[in-house]
Amino acid sequence: MRYKLSSKTEKRLKTKNMLPKVNPTNTQAWLLLRRHYEEEMQRMHLRDLFTQDTDRFQKFSVTLGDILFDYSKNLITPKTQHLLLQLAEDVSLKEAITSLFAGELINETEGRAVLHTALRNFSGAPVLSEGKDVMPDVQRVQQQMKDFCANVHSGKWKGYTGKKIKYIVNIGIGGSDLGPVMVTEALKPYQVKDIQTFYVSNVDGTHIAETLKKVKPEETLFLIASKTFTTQETMTNALTARQWFLDAAKEESHIAKHFAALSTNEKEVVKFGIDPKNMFEFWDWVGGRYSLWSAIGLSIALTIGYDNFELLLKGAYEVDEHFKNTSFDKNIPVIMALIGVWYGNFMGAQSEAILPYDQYMHRFAAYFQQGNMESNGKSVDRNGNEVNYTTGPVIWGEPGTNGQHAFYQLIHQGKLLIPCDFIAPAISHNPIGDHHVKLLSNFFAQTEALMNGKTEKEAKEELQNAGKSDEECKKLVPFKTFDGNKPTNSFLVKQITPFTLGSLIALYEHKIFVQGVIWNIFSFDQWGVELGKQLANKILPELITDEAVNSHDSSTNGLINAFKQLRK
Ligand code: F6P
Repeated sequence: MRYKLSSKTEKRLKTKNMLPKVNPTNTQAWLLLRRHYEEEMQRMHLRDLFTQDTDRFQKFSVTLGDILFDYSKNLITPKTQHLLLQLAEDVSLKEAITSLFAGELINETEGRAVLHTALRNFSGAPVLSEGKDVMPDVQRVQQQMKDFCANVHSGKWKGYTGKKIKYIVNIGIGGSDLGPVMVTEALKPYQVKDIQTFYVSNVDGTHIAETLKKVKPEETLFLIASKTFTTQETMTNALTARQWFLDAAKEESHIAKHFAALSTNEKEVVKFGIDPKNMFEFWDWVGGRYSLWSAIGLSIALTIGYDNFELLLKGAYEVDEHFKNTSFDKNIPVIMALIGVWYGNFMGAQSEAILPYDQYMHRFAAYFQQGNMESNGKSVDRNGNEVNYTTGPVIWGEPGTNGQHAFYQLIHQGKLLIPCDFIAPAISHNPIGDHHVKLLSNFFAQTEALMNGKTEKEAKEELQNAGKSDEECKKLVPFKTFDGNKPTNSFLVKQITPFTLGSLIALYEHKIFVQGVIWNIFSFDQWGVELGKQLANKILPELITDEAVNSHDSSTNGLINAFKQLRK
């Protein structure tokens, strides 16, 4: 199988340093890792690893600025780590990182560079994409965003009746929504006074209808956020918002004060009726799910202030430098990625949970659901061949402690191996009474419990101490026993600030990149979302006629025809 590109792109690709195309299962490291698992690790218990080596925490933890990354509660030994690092060498990860930052066209199936790192490049050095320094354009748009925020916040920018803007409504979906939603939620304590931000993504009319009930046309600024400016959901919601606004404002000329576009597609922006002066540009080398750092982040900057947005970028920049310059044995994203490969490819894990012990971070897992699953949910390798190994895992999670009362039971005692990332701040933005120490006592307790479990002997003793008879003990012990041996990473950060959040996001982004390199897949395209979109476009006209359809399979025909009957 081979993907089709224009001959011009094919020619350009041939002259560049593409990502290496190594089947990881053919490397020596892979074979050694398999053997190491079968012969040494399969029956290993985390409890024993800690008993055998009291220095595990020192050996398997790294600090970067205000972030402590403890990966000691993983089923790894120094030998595992050594072999995983060898795997990174065997697939030429170092060269791949160089190609990423050098702006090579590593998104080969779309013939594009992957340069979201340029959006947070504070080095002063140029960043080249196809021979052109992208930094002047990046800085121009950043200045435009900064000026715009200042005007909106000061009230210099006025709505059509002369009132200050009070409501921001970002209309976008996927990468043009999830990142800004997640960040504005996570950084709520930094919210600018007198600005309220809403996000509309779903094409379900309920989303826009419920949002419009909360805002007033003369005080609302709509940000139409779409890289392509053709996405069905976003354009439908944008047109509805436009009509709602015009019903109140009457004059088309007032649109200029209430609609801005965040996009790469000026032609479509103008066609929609937005003044190009109100367009905040970005470029095709910014992937949708990596775009919160670009003009797509305007709703973030308007919500928390441009200076805080810049701190978010600076936090990510610190991680970019760490990722680029740190040896792999101390490189946090590389370690995160290798541990994920170890569980997914050698121990059969199919999902990973992200569990922030911070209520403000309640959309963090949802954000990385798209980040990981749209990037690495692939089954064809960089040579165009079907892969014969597992690639991206299912990502899910909810904040602690809520998750503890919902799905942790399965992580503790179910049959699936679910490696978990625990994230917590040492300092709360809401230091009320003993809430935070209670929260953190749970954070520490869970990873300890997952690791140690509870032996039969411990369970029995506990029951005996509770006064249970021998018969009751015998009956209950199997249910009260926990195998433990459930691996976790812990990220303990000083506080969730714009800077540390920027760093955390960038760590996960680079983890995804490293895993894509190892699995020999393209992480920056998303062809898998196209088929459903195409079919929906085909079905749409069939739904607006009264005639019964018979052009599909019997199930789809049956459902469509039932829908038509139910609407009568
Ligand atoms: O779901 C596919 C996708 O292309 C995502 O990758 C992207 O983030 C989203 O749609 C929105 O696209 P756009 O920003 O072009 O509207």
